[in-house]
Amino acid sequence: MPGTLPHTPTADLPPDSPQPHLFRFWSSLSDDEKRALVAQVESINLNEIGTLWQSAPAESDAALADKASAPSSLIPATIRTDDPQRFAQAEATGWQALAEGRVGAILVAGGEGTRLGFPHPKGQYPIGPVSKKSLFQWLAEQLLAVSQRAGVPIPYYIMTSDATHEETVAFFREHHYFGLNADHVRFFRQGNMPAVDQKSGHLLLGEKHRVAVSPDGHGGLLAAFDRAGLFDDVLQRGVEYLFYHQVDNPLARVCDPAFIGFHRLHNAEVSTKIVAKEDPAEKVGLLVEVDGRHRIIEYIDVPPHIAQQTDQSGKLRLRCGNIAVHLFNATFLQRVARENGGLPYHRSSKPVPYVDESGTLAQPTSSNAFKFEKFIFDILPATERALAMEIVRDDEFVPLKNREGQFSPDHVRSAMRQLHTRWLRNAGWTTEQELPVEIPPAAALCEADFLNPRVPPAR
Ligand code: UD1
Repeated sequence: MPGTLPHTPTADLPPDSPQPHLFRFWSSLSDDEKRALVAQVESINLNEIGTLWQSAPAESDAALADKASAPSSLIPATIRTDDPQRFAQAEATGWQALAEGRVGAILVAGGEGTRLGFPHPKGQYPIGPVSKKSLFQWLAEQLLAVSQRAGVPIPYYIMTSDATHEETVAFFREHHYFGLNADHVRFFRQGNMPAVDQKSGHLLLGEKHRVAVSPDGHGGLLAAFDRAGLFDDVLQRGVEYLFYHQVDNPLARVCDPAFIGFHRLHNAEVSTKIVAKEDPAEKVGLLVEVDGRHRIIEYIDVPPHIAQQTDQSGKLRLRCGNIAVHLFNATFLQRVARENGGLPYHRSSKPVPYVDESGTLAQPTSSNAFKFEKFIFDILPATERALAMEIVRDDEFVPLKNREGQFSPDHVRSAMRQLHTRWLRNAGWTTEQELPVEIPPAAALCEADFLNPRVPPAR
Protein backbone atom coordinates (compact mmCIF):
# COMPACT_ATOMS: atom_id res chain seq x y z
CA MET A 1 0.00 0.00 0.00
CA PRO A 2 1.44 3.38 -1.02
CA GLY A 3 1.30 5.41 2.18
CA THR A 4 0.42 2.74 4.77
CA LEU A 5 0.19 4.24 8.21
CA PRO A 6 2.34 2.58 10.87
CA HIS A 7 -0.31 1.85 13.46
CA THR A 8 -4.06 1.55 13.61
CA PRO A 9 -5.54 4.78 14.91
CA THR A 10 -7.92 4.76 17.85
CA ALA A 11 -10.80 7.10 18.58
CA ASP A 12 -8.51 9.33 20.67
CA LEU A 13 -5.18 8.80 19.03
CA PRO A 14 -4.58 9.68 15.37
CA PRO A 15 -2.27 7.47 13.32
CA ASP A 16 1.46 8.16 13.15
CA SER A 17 2.15 9.88 9.89
CA PRO A 18 5.04 11.70 8.23
CA GLN A 19 2.45 14.47 7.76
CA PRO A 20 0.85 14.75 11.25
CA HIS A 21 -0.81 18.09 10.45
CA LEU A 22 -3.36 16.12 8.39
CA PHE A 23 -4.76 14.74 11.66
CA ARG A 24 -4.80 18.06 13.47
CA PHE A 25 -8.59 18.03 13.82
CA TRP A 26 -8.83 14.33 14.74
CA SER A 27 -10.66 14.80 18.03
CA SER A 28 -13.42 16.84 16.37
CA LEU A 29 -14.09 14.29 13.59
CA SER A 30 -16.89 11.72 13.55
CA ASP A 31 -15.95 8.03 13.26
CA ASP A 32 -16.91 8.02 9.59
CA GLU A 33 -14.80 11.08 8.93
CA LYS A 34 -11.84 9.51 10.74
CA ARG A 35 -12.14 6.36 8.64
CA ALA A 36 -12.46 8.39 5.43
CA LEU A 37 -9.40 10.50 6.24
CA VAL A 38 -7.23 7.49 7.11
CA ALA A 39 -8.32 5.65 3.95
CA GLN A 40 -7.56 8.69 1.80
CA VAL A 41 -4.12 9.30 3.32
CA GLU A 42 -3.29 5.60 2.95
CA SER A 43 -4.15 5.73 -0.74
CA ILE A 44 -1.66 8.55 -1.38
CA ASN A 45 1.88 7.70 -2.40
CA LEU A 46 3.73 10.18 -0.18
CA ASN A 47 7.14 9.28 -1.61
CA GLU A 48 5.96 10.01 -5.13
CA ILE A 49 4.39 13.31 -4.04
CA GLY A 50 7.63 14.26 -2.27
CA THR A 51 9.66 13.61 -5.41
CA LEU A 52 7.22 15.54 -7.59
CA TRP A 53 7.23 18.49 -5.18
CA GLN A 54 11.01 18.71 -5.44
CA SER A 55 11.15 18.17 -9.20
CA ALA A 56 12.64 21.04 -11.13
CA PRO A 57 10.22 23.13 -13.22
CA ALA A 58 9.96 22.08 -16.86
CA GLU A 59 13.13 23.89 -17.94
CA SER A 60 13.93 20.89 -20.12
CA ASP A 61 10.89 21.84 -22.23
CA ALA A 62 12.50 25.20 -22.96
CA ALA A 63 15.67 23.41 -24.05
CA LEU A 64 13.62 21.05 -26.19
CA ALA A 65 11.77 23.96 -27.80
CA ASP A 66 15.14 25.45 -28.71
CA LYS A 67 16.24 22.43 -30.71
CA ALA A 68 12.77 21.52 -32.01
CA SER A 69 11.78 21.65 -35.66
CA ALA A 70 8.46 21.38 -37.49
CA PRO A 71 7.08 17.81 -37.63
CA SER A 72 8.34 16.08 -40.78
CA SER A 73 5.18 14.01 -41.18
CA LEU A 74 2.86 16.95 -41.81
CA ILE A 75 -0.05 16.55 -44.23
CA PRO A 76 -0.96 20.12 -45.26
CA ALA A 77 -4.51 21.47 -45.17
CA THR A 78 -4.27 22.14 -48.92
CA ILE A 79 -4.14 18.43 -49.73
CA ARG A 80 -7.86 18.35 -50.48
CA THR A 81 -7.33 20.64 -53.49
CA ASP A 82 -3.66 19.92 -54.31
CA ASP A 83 -4.01 16.15 -54.39
CA PRO A 84 -7.72 15.31 -54.49
CA GLN A 85 -7.00 11.71 -55.42
CA ARG A 86 -4.88 11.09 -52.34
CA PHE A 87 -7.46 12.83 -50.17
CA ALA A 88 -10.28 10.73 -51.63
CA GLN A 89 -8.24 7.58 -51.06
CA ALA A 90 -7.71 8.54 -47.41
CA GLU A 91 -11.41 9.30 -46.97
CA ALA A 92 -12.45 5.98 -48.49
CA THR A 93 -9.92 4.15 -46.30
CA GLY A 94 -11.31 5.89 -43.21
CA TRP A 95 -14.92 5.00 -44.10
CA GLN A 96 -13.78 1.44 -44.65
CA ALA A 97 -12.21 1.28 -41.15
CA LEU A 98 -15.39 2.79 -39.70
CA ALA A 99 -17.64 0.35 -41.55
CA GLU A 100 -15.50 -2.55 -40.33
CA GLY A 101 -16.22 -1.41 -36.74
CA ARG A 102 -12.53 -0.66 -36.12
CA VAL A 103 -13.08 2.82 -34.64
CA GLY A 104 -14.09 4.00 -31.16
CA ALA A 105 -14.11 7.53 -29.72
CA ILE A 106 -12.88 8.98 -26.44
CA LEU A 107 -14.22 12.28 -25.13
CA VAL A 108 -12.38 13.95 -22.24
CA ALA A 109 -14.92 15.84 -20.18
CA GLY A 110 -13.43 16.13 -16.72
CA GLY A 111 -13.50 19.93 -16.82
CA GLU A 112 -16.12 22.17 -15.28
CA GLY A 113 -17.44 25.41 -16.73
CA THR A 114 -15.88 27.46 -13.92
CA ARG A 115 -13.99 29.85 -16.21
CA LEU A 116 -17.28 30.47 -18.02
CA GLY A 117 -19.17 31.13 -14.80
CA PHE A 118 -21.24 27.99 -15.59
CA PRO A 119 -21.70 25.80 -12.49
CA HIS A 120 -21.98 22.48 -14.36
CA PRO A 121 -19.81 20.19 -16.48
CA LYS A 122 -18.61 22.22 -19.45
CA GLY A 123 -20.19 19.69 -21.84
CA GLN A 124 -23.63 20.85 -20.72
CA TYR A 125 -23.01 24.39 -21.96
CA PRO A 126 -25.72 25.42 -24.48
CA ILE A 127 -23.62 26.22 -27.52
CA GLY A 128 -25.88 25.72 -30.59
CA PRO A 129 -26.27 29.21 -32.13
CA VAL A 130 -29.97 28.62 -32.83
CA SER A 131 -30.95 25.40 -31.08
CA LYS A 132 -28.88 26.03 -27.94
CA LYS A 133 -27.86 22.37 -28.07
CA SER A 134 -25.24 21.53 -25.49
CA LEU A 135 -21.62 20.74 -26.37
CA PHE A 136 -22.36 17.12 -25.38
CA GLN A 137 -25.32 16.98 -27.76
CA TRP A 138 -23.46 18.62 -30.63
CA LEU A 139 -20.59 16.13 -30.35
CA ALA A 140 -22.81 13.09 -29.74
CA GLU A 141 -24.92 13.94 -32.78
CA GLN A 142 -21.78 14.01 -34.90
CA LEU A 143 -20.80 10.59 -33.65
CA LEU A 144 -24.33 9.33 -34.34
CA ALA A 145 -24.29 10.73 -37.88
CA VAL A 146 -20.93 9.08 -38.66
CA SER A 147 -22.06 5.82 -37.13
CA GLN A 148 -25.28 5.84 -39.20
CA ARG A 149 -23.34 6.46 -42.40
CA ALA A 150 -20.86 3.72 -41.54
CA GLY A 151 -23.70 1.36 -40.67
CA VAL A 152 -22.13 0.25 -37.37
CA PRO A 153 -22.21 1.53 -33.80
CA ILE A 154 -19.16 3.48 -32.68
CA PRO A 155 -18.45 3.05 -28.97
CA TYR A 156 -18.18 6.38 -27.13
CA TYR A 157 -15.92 6.38 -24.04
CA ILE A 158 -16.55 9.49 -21.97
CA MET A 159 -14.07 10.47 -19.29
CA THR A 160 -15.47 12.40 -16.34
CA SER A 161 -13.99 13.59 -13.05
CA ASP A 162 -15.36 13.54 -9.50
CA ALA A 163 -16.70 17.02 -10.16
CA THR A 164 -18.52 16.12 -13.40
CA HIS A 165 -19.37 12.42 -13.19
CA GLU A 166 -22.86 12.25 -11.68
CA GLU A 167 -24.21 15.27 -13.55
CA THR A 168 -22.79 14.09 -16.85
CA VAL A 169 -24.22 10.59 -16.57
CA ALA A 170 -27.62 11.99 -15.52
CA PHE A 171 -27.55 14.52 -18.39
CA PHE A 172 -26.97 11.82 -21.00
CA ARG A 173 -29.65 9.61 -19.45
CA GLU A 174 -32.16 12.47 -19.29
CA HIS A 175 -31.57 13.23 -22.96
CA HIS A 176 -31.72 9.59 -24.05
CA TYR A 177 -28.05 9.63 -24.98
CA PHE A 178 -28.86 12.07 -27.78
CA GLY A 179 -29.94 9.18 -29.98
CA LEU A 180 -26.89 6.99 -29.32
CA ASN A 181 -27.46 3.45 -28.14
CA ALA A 182 -26.72 3.46 -24.39
CA ASP A 183 -24.99 0.06 -24.73
CA HIS A 184 -22.24 1.79 -26.67
CA VAL A 185 -21.72 4.74 -24.34
CA ARG A 186 -19.34 4.09 -21.44
CA PHE A 187 -18.49 6.64 -18.75
CA PHE A 188 -15.30 6.33 -16.76
CA ARG A 189 -13.96 8.55 -14.02
CA GLN A 190 -10.44 9.95 -14.01
CA GLY A 191 -8.27 9.88 -10.89
CA ASN A 192 -7.13 12.65 -8.53
CA MET A 193 -3.84 13.97 -7.27
CA PRO A 194 -3.30 15.85 -4.01
CA ALA A 195 -2.16 19.45 -4.06
CA VAL A 196 0.85 20.30 -1.88
CA ASP A 197 1.94 23.45 -0.15
CA GLN A 198 4.50 25.08 -2.43
CA LYS A 199 6.98 25.93 0.35
CA SER A 200 6.79 22.93 2.68
CA GLY A 201 5.68 20.13 0.34
CA HIS A 202 2.95 19.24 2.87
CA LEU A 203 -0.41 17.98 1.68
CA LEU A 204 -3.23 20.45 2.21
CA LEU A 205 -6.57 19.79 3.87
CA GLY A 206 -9.55 20.78 1.72
CA GLU A 207 -11.80 19.97 4.68
CA LYS A 208 -10.92 18.92 8.22
CA HIS A 209 -11.33 15.28 7.22
CA ARG A 210 -10.28 15.44 3.57
CA VAL A 211 -7.02 16.09 1.76
CA ALA A 212 -7.34 18.66 -1.04
CA VAL A 213 -7.16 16.90 -4.41
CA SER A 214 -7.80 17.80 -8.02
CA PRO A 215 -8.19 15.81 -11.27
CA ASP A 216 -4.96 14.20 -12.47
CA GLY A 217 -5.09 15.74 -15.96
CA HIS A 218 -6.39 14.25 -19.21
CA GLY A 219 -3.32 12.00 -19.25
CA GLY A 220 -5.00 10.32 -16.29
CA LEU A 221 -7.22 8.68 -18.87
CA LEU A 222 -4.73 5.88 -19.52
CA ALA A 223 -4.91 4.55 -15.96
CA ALA A 224 -8.62 5.31 -15.63
CA PHE A 225 -9.42 3.54 -18.92
CA ASP A 226 -7.49 0.51 -17.75
CA ARG A 227 -9.04 0.53 -14.25
CA ALA A 228 -12.50 0.56 -15.79
CA GLY A 229 -11.66 -2.49 -17.93
CA LEU A 230 -12.17 -0.52 -21.12
CA PHE A 231 -9.14 -1.87 -22.97
CA ASP A 232 -10.90 -5.24 -22.74
CA ASP A 233 -14.08 -3.66 -24.04
CA VAL A 234 -12.15 -2.19 -26.97
CA LEU A 235 -10.53 -5.53 -27.71
CA GLN A 236 -13.79 -7.46 -27.55
CA ARG A 237 -15.38 -5.07 -30.00
CA GLY A 238 -12.49 -5.39 -32.42
CA VAL A 239 -11.74 -1.66 -32.20
CA GLU A 240 -8.26 -0.75 -33.49
CA TYR A 241 -8.33 3.05 -33.52
CA LEU A 242 -9.43 5.42 -30.79
CA PHE A 243 -10.38 8.94 -31.85
CA TYR A 244 -9.67 11.41 -29.01
CA HIS A 245 -11.23 14.84 -28.57
CA GLN A 246 -11.95 17.47 -25.90
CA VAL A 247 -15.39 18.56 -24.84
CA ASP A 248 -14.73 22.25 -25.51
CA ASN A 249 -14.52 22.24 -29.33
CA PRO A 250 -17.89 21.79 -31.08
CA LEU A 251 -16.23 21.95 -34.51
CA ALA A 252 -13.94 18.97 -33.85
CA ARG A 253 -14.84 16.56 -36.67
CA VAL A 254 -15.65 13.50 -34.60
CA CYS A 255 -14.19 10.36 -36.22
CA ASP A 256 -13.23 12.29 -39.36
CA PRO A 257 -12.87 9.58 -42.06
CA ALA A 258 -10.00 11.35 -43.86
CA PHE A 259 -8.03 11.62 -40.61
CA ILE A 260 -8.58 7.94 -39.87
CA GLY A 261 -7.70 7.06 -43.46
CA PHE A 262 -4.38 8.95 -43.49
CA HIS A 263 -3.52 7.36 -40.14
CA ARG A 264 -4.22 3.88 -41.51
CA LEU A 265 -2.46 4.47 -44.83
CA HIS A 266 0.64 5.75 -43.03
CA ASN A 267 0.57 2.90 -40.55
CA ALA A 268 0.82 5.48 -37.76
CA GLU A 269 0.43 4.75 -34.05
CA VAL A 270 -0.58 8.31 -33.12
CA SER A 271 -1.96 11.04 -35.36
CA THR A 272 -2.60 14.63 -34.35
CA LYS A 273 -4.56 17.43 -35.99
CA ILE A 274 -2.88 20.79 -35.93
CA VAL A 275 -3.75 24.36 -36.87
CA ALA A 276 -1.31 26.94 -38.24
CA LYS A 277 -0.50 29.22 -35.33
CA GLU A 278 -0.20 32.87 -36.38
CA ASP A 279 -0.08 34.69 -33.07
CA PRO A 280 2.92 33.64 -30.95
CA ALA A 281 0.89 34.40 -27.81
CA GLU A 282 -1.98 32.07 -28.75
CA LYS A 283 -2.55 29.51 -25.99
CA VAL A 284 -2.10 26.33 -28.00
CA GLY A 285 0.54 23.68 -27.43
CA LEU A 286 3.12 23.20 -30.20
CA LEU A 287 3.55 19.96 -32.09
CA VAL A 288 7.25 19.66 -32.90
CA GLU A 289 9.89 17.12 -33.74
CA VAL A 290 12.95 16.60 -31.54
CA ASP A 291 15.59 13.95 -32.28
CA GLY A 292 13.30 12.22 -34.77
CA ARG A 293 10.35 11.96 -32.39
CA HIS A 294 7.16 14.01 -32.37
CA ARG A 295 6.11 15.69 -29.14
CA ILE A 296 3.86 18.49 -27.95
CA ILE A 297 5.34 21.25 -25.85
CA GLU A 298 2.67 23.07 -23.85
CA TYR A 299 2.41 26.80 -24.60
CA ILE A 300 3.32 27.75 -21.07
CA ASP A 301 6.66 25.92 -21.44
CA VAL A 302 7.74 27.62 -24.68
CA PRO A 303 9.85 30.69 -23.90
CA PRO A 304 8.46 33.80 -25.69
CA HIS A 305 11.66 34.38 -27.68
CA ILE A 306 11.30 30.89 -29.19
CA ALA A 307 7.55 31.21 -29.74
CA GLN A 308 8.23 34.42 -31.67
CA GLN A 309 10.96 33.09 -33.99
CA THR A 310 10.06 33.28 -37.68
CA ASP A 311 11.37 31.44 -40.71
CA GLN A 312 12.47 32.85 -44.09
CA SER A 313 8.86 33.20 -45.24
CA GLY A 314 8.06 35.32 -42.17
CA LYS A 315 5.84 32.64 -40.65
CA LEU A 316 6.36 31.36 -37.11
CA ARG A 317 9.14 28.76 -37.09
CA LEU A 318 7.18 26.53 -34.74
CA ARG A 319 3.58 26.96 -35.83
CA CYS A 320 1.87 23.58 -35.56
CA GLY A 321 -0.75 24.39 -32.93
CA ASN A 322 -2.26 21.45 -31.06
CA ILE A 323 -6.07 21.41 -31.41
CA ALA A 324 -6.25 18.40 -29.06
CA VAL A 325 -7.65 15.97 -31.63
CA HIS A 326 -5.72 12.70 -31.85
CA LEU A 327 -6.08 9.20 -33.18
CA PHE A 328 -4.42 6.40 -31.23
CA ASN A 329 -3.88 2.77 -32.01
CA ALA A 330 -5.65 1.05 -29.13
CA THR A 331 -2.84 -1.46 -28.62
CA PHE A 332 -0.27 1.35 -28.43
CA LEU A 333 -2.37 3.19 -25.85
CA GLN A 334 -2.67 0.04 -23.78
CA ARG A 335 1.06 -0.62 -23.99
CA VAL A 336 1.95 2.85 -22.71
CA ALA A 337 -0.71 2.61 -19.98
CA ARG A 338 0.85 -0.56 -18.63
CA GLU A 339 4.54 0.19 -19.05
CA ASN A 340 6.88 2.45 -17.06
CA GLY A 341 4.10 3.81 -14.86
CA GLY A 342 2.49 5.52 -17.84
CA LEU A 343 2.99 9.24 -18.44
CA PRO A 344 4.99 11.83 -16.46
CA TYR A 345 3.41 14.45 -14.22
CA HIS A 346 3.61 18.19 -14.91
CA ARG A 347 3.82 20.49 -11.92
CA SER A 348 2.00 23.84 -11.91
CA SER A 349 1.61 26.61 -9.34
CA LYS A 350 -2.02 27.38 -8.48
CA PRO A 351 -4.06 29.09 -5.75
CA VAL A 352 -5.64 26.22 -3.80
CA PRO A 353 -8.08 26.77 -0.88
CA TYR A 354 -7.09 24.95 2.32
CA VAL A 355 -8.12 24.57 5.96
CA ASP A 356 -5.61 26.52 8.02
CA GLU A 357 -4.34 25.82 11.56
CA SER A 358 -7.36 27.54 13.09
CA GLY A 359 -9.76 25.37 11.09
CA THR A 360 -10.82 28.19 8.78
CA LEU A 361 -10.96 27.72 5.00
CA ALA A 362 -8.31 30.04 3.54
CA GLN A 363 -8.93 31.24 -0.04
CA PRO A 364 -5.56 32.36 -1.43
CA THR A 365 -5.65 34.81 -4.31
CA SER A 366 -2.16 33.96 -5.52
CA SER A 367 -0.41 30.62 -6.04
CA ASN A 368 0.26 28.80 -2.77
CA ALA A 369 0.33 25.20 -3.98
CA PHE A 370 1.57 22.81 -6.62
CA LYS A 371 -0.88 20.68 -8.60
CA PHE A 372 0.23 17.67 -10.60
CA GLU A 373 -1.29 16.67 -13.94
CA LYS A 374 -0.56 14.23 -16.74
CA PHE A 375 -1.04 15.26 -20.35
CA ILE A 376 -2.25 12.69 -22.86
CA PHE A 377 -0.03 14.09 -25.60
CA ASP A 378 3.09 13.03 -23.66
CA ILE A 379 2.41 9.66 -25.25
CA LEU A 380 3.86 10.98 -28.52
CA PRO A 381 7.61 10.50 -27.93
CA ALA A 382 6.91 6.81 -27.23
CA THR A 383 6.39 6.17 -30.94
CA GLU A 384 8.38 6.58 -34.14
CA ARG A 385 5.16 6.29 -36.12
CA ALA A 386 3.45 9.65 -35.62
CA LEU A 387 1.53 11.67 -38.18
CA ALA A 388 0.38 15.31 -38.23
CA MET A 389 -2.55 16.60 -40.25
CA GLU A 390 -3.21 20.30 -40.68
CA ILE A 391 -6.79 21.58 -40.58
CA VAL A 392 -8.40 24.84 -41.64
CA ARG A 393 -9.01 26.81 -38.46
CA ASP A 394 -12.46 28.18 -39.36
CA ASP A 395 -13.66 24.69 -40.26
CA GLU A 396 -12.56 22.72 -37.22
CA PHE A 397 -11.29 24.74 -34.28
CA VAL A 398 -13.25 27.06 -32.07
CA PRO A 399 -12.98 25.86 -28.48
CA LEU A 400 -15.13 27.29 -25.71
CA LYS A 401 -12.72 28.52 -23.03
CA ASN A 402 -13.51 31.99 -21.69
CA ARG A 403 -16.39 34.03 -20.39
CA GLU A 404 -15.60 36.95 -22.70
CA GLY A 405 -13.58 37.80 -25.80
CA GLN A 406 -11.77 35.15 -27.78
CA PHE A 407 -13.21 31.65 -27.34
CA SER A 408 -16.18 32.99 -25.39
CA PRO A 409 -19.72 31.67 -26.01
CA ASP A 410 -20.42 34.64 -28.34
CA HIS A 411 -17.26 33.96 -30.31
CA VAL A 412 -17.93 30.23 -30.63
CA ARG A 413 -21.57 30.65 -31.67
CA SER A 414 -20.69 33.34 -34.18
CA ALA A 415 -17.94 31.13 -35.67
CA MET A 416 -20.42 28.26 -36.03
CA ARG A 417 -22.99 30.56 -37.64
CA GLN A 418 -20.44 31.97 -40.08
CA LEU A 419 -19.22 28.52 -41.04
CA HIS A 420 -22.70 27.26 -41.78
CA THR A 421 -23.60 30.46 -43.61
CA ARG A 422 -20.56 29.84 -45.83
CA TRP A 423 -21.78 26.32 -46.59
CA LEU A 424 -25.18 27.74 -47.57
CA ARG A 425 -23.65 30.45 -49.77
CA ASN A 426 -21.40 27.94 -51.51
CA ALA A 427 -24.49 25.84 -52.13
CA GLY A 428 -26.10 28.79 -53.95
CA TRP A 429 -27.91 30.65 -51.20
CA THR A 430 -27.85 34.25 -52.37
CA THR A 431 -29.47 36.32 -49.69
CA GLU A 432 -27.24 39.04 -48.30
CA GLN A 433 -29.06 38.94 -45.01
CA GLU A 434 -27.20 37.60 -42.00
CA LEU A 435 -29.64 35.06 -40.69
CA PRO A 436 -29.14 33.05 -37.55
CA VAL A 437 -28.36 29.63 -38.99
CA GLU A 438 -27.08 26.32 -37.75
CA ILE A 439 -26.72 23.09 -39.71
CA PRO A 440 -27.10 20.08 -37.45
CA PRO A 441 -24.56 17.25 -37.72
CA ALA A 442 -27.33 14.90 -38.88
CA ALA A 443 -27.70 17.07 -42.01
CA ALA A 444 -24.02 17.41 -42.88
CA LEU A 445 -20.67 16.53 -41.35
CA CYS A 446 -18.65 19.16 -43.26
CA GLU A 447 -18.93 21.49 -46.23
CA ALA A 448 -18.09 18.84 -48.84
CA ASP A 449 -20.72 16.60 -47.29
CA PHE A 450 -23.26 19.43 -47.37
CA LEU A 451 -22.61 20.26 -51.02
CA ASN A 452 -22.36 16.70 -52.22
CA PRO A 453 -23.64 14.17 -49.70
CA ARG A 454 -21.63 11.01 -50.11
CA VAL A 455 -22.52 7.52 -49.21
CA PRO A 456 -19.65 5.52 -47.73
CA PRO A 457 -18.32 2.54 -49.69
CA ALA A 458 -20.38 -0.62 -49.39
CA ARG A 459 -19.13 -3.02 -46.75
C1 UD1 B 1 -5.42 22.38 -24.17
C2 UD1 B 1 -4.04 21.80 -24.52
C3 UD1 B 1 -3.34 22.69 -25.53
C4 UD1 B 1 -4.22 22.82 -26.75
C5 UD1 B 1 -5.60 23.38 -26.36
C6 UD1 B 1 -6.54 23.36 -27.55
C7 UD1 B 1 -3.44 20.76 -22.42
C8 UD1 B 1 -2.50 20.69 -21.28
N1 UD1 B 1 -3.25 21.71 -23.31
O1 UD1 B 1 -5.19 23.60 -23.48
O2 UD1 B 1 -2.09 22.13 -25.91
O3 UD1 B 1 -3.60 23.66 -27.69
O4 UD1 B 1 -6.21 22.56 -25.34
O5 UD1 B 1 -7.80 23.79 -27.19
O6 UD1 B 1 -4.34 19.96 -22.55
N2 UD1 B 1 -9.58 17.75 -18.97
C9 UD1 B 1 -10.02 16.65 -18.30
N3 UD1 B 1 -9.41 16.34 -17.12
C10 UD1 B 1 -8.39 17.08 -16.60
C11 UD1 B 1 -7.95 18.22 -17.30
C12 UD1 B 1 -8.57 18.53 -18.48
O7 UD1 B 1 -10.92 15.94 -18.75
O8 UD1 B 1 -7.88 16.71 -15.53
C13 UD1 B 1 -10.22 18.09 -20.25
C14 UD1 B 1 -11.13 19.31 -20.11
O9 UD1 B 1 -12.46 18.93 -19.84
C15 UD1 B 1 -11.00 19.91 -21.50
C16 UD1 B 1 -9.62 19.50 -21.98
O10 UD1 B 1 -9.21 18.43 -21.17
O11 UD1 B 1 -11.93 19.33 -22.39
C17 UD1 B 1 -8.59 20.63 -22.05
O12 UD1 B 1 -8.28 21.11 -20.82
P1 UD1 B 1 -7.85 22.63 -20.59
O13 UD1 B 1 -7.29 22.70 -19.23
O14 UD1 B 1 -9.01 23.51 -20.90
O15 UD1 B 1 -6.70 22.85 -21.64
P2 UD1 B 1 -6.17 24.18 -22.35
O16 UD1 B 1 -5.31 24.96 -21.43
O17 UD1 B 1 -7.25 24.91 -22.98
